[in-house]
Amino acid sequence: MGEKWVLMKTAQTPTNIAVIKYWGKRDETLILPVNDSISVTLDPAHLCTTTTVAVSPAFQQDRMWLNGKEISLSGGRYQNCLREIRKRAREVEDKEKGIKIEKEDWEKLHLHIASYNNFPTAAGLASSAAGFACLVFALAKLMNVEEDESQLSAIARQGSGSACRSLFGGFVKWIMGKEEDGSDSLAVQLVDEKHWDDLFIIIAVVSSRQKETSSTSGMRESVETSLLLQHRAKEVVPKRTLQMEEAIKNRDFASFAKLTCADSNQFHAVCLDTSPPIFYMNDTSHRIISHVEKWNRSEGSPQVAYTFDAGPNAVLIARDRKAAAQLLKRLLFSFPPNSDADLDSYIIGDKTILKEAG
Ligand code: DP6
Repeated sequence: MGEKWVLMKTAQTPTNIAVIKYWGKRDETLILPVNDSISVTLDPAHLCTTTTVAVSPAFQQDRMWLNGKEISLSGGRYQNCLREIRKRAREVEDKEKGIKIEKEDWEKLHLHIASYNNFPTAAGLASSAAGFACLVFALAKLMNVEEDESQLSAIARQGSGSACRSLFGGFVKWIMGKEEDGSDSLAVQLVDEKHWDDLFIIIAVVSSRQKETSSTSGMRESVETSLLLQHRAKEVVPKRTLQMEEAIKNRDFASFAKLTCADSNQFHAVCLDTSPPIFYMNDTSHRIISHVEKWNRSEGSPQVAYTFDAGPNAVLIARDRKAAAQLLKRLLFSFPPNSDADLDSYIIGDKTILKEAG
């Protein structure tokens, strides 16, 4: 091998939003959850990460840049992902460039990784999910790894739990698994993106500030102190997951919306049941919930489902384009962006109504 060459691969991965939430780990290092979860993968135009990975004999160490700024790879989560992917690396040959990398060369070669989010990282929107999924997928391509998406998801999971669900489009289930080594804690696709393509997602960015309690530490505190979490994981989620799978399979929006909203509300109830309590939603979030609940009731059948992750931003899933248009009209009237500090911006498909845009 000469010293002059560089081999590169690029991947793009969207983020996902859980409709049955993951909240709580039974193993912190391997990132094994206390319950199954189900998510919908967003269109890459909404929120996605693009990652380029490069290998060259000229590189002296593994390095990574996020949105152009170098970040440290010394954390356990990055190290676990890199180690697991390197273990599965195979021979790579690029005849045109005259490059041949033997399986055992991968242990000695160093990587440079450049990752970009197509949304502001500080916007308080899930970025680790897309980030780790994209990193693992790009490395798997570069290293000619044979494993399928589900097997790769078990590696992405060790970067961030929710990342394992971003390796597929459509609706995805993270099976919690039973094995102690985590080998069966992985994601499977329930249906692909074409199965239910009427759904339309609008994100109300209530606050673009960084959240005060990270998901990782928040869920640790919930596991240690919340009795409701125990009940949720054992009694509620197993049944709810089956009902959700049915609703998705049958494109039954009424059931889907009921389950999605109930699960988001229970997750935030667990946060309140944590000691000290964790408040992710704020007044505006609560007002959005009331507004959607009232509208759904007045229509006789649900038009919109809402779900909130570890922050105040609302992810609103409309049953179709017509419902989405009405929803947006209502939101812009009741929660205009940039009018005061109540709401920052809206993300609608590939368009963003930003605070700055007025
Ligand atoms: C509320 O996947 O960010 O978004 O595994 O510690 O990295 P770590 O946590 P993370 O938690 C996501 C929590 C959630 C619910 C969900 O996505 O299922």
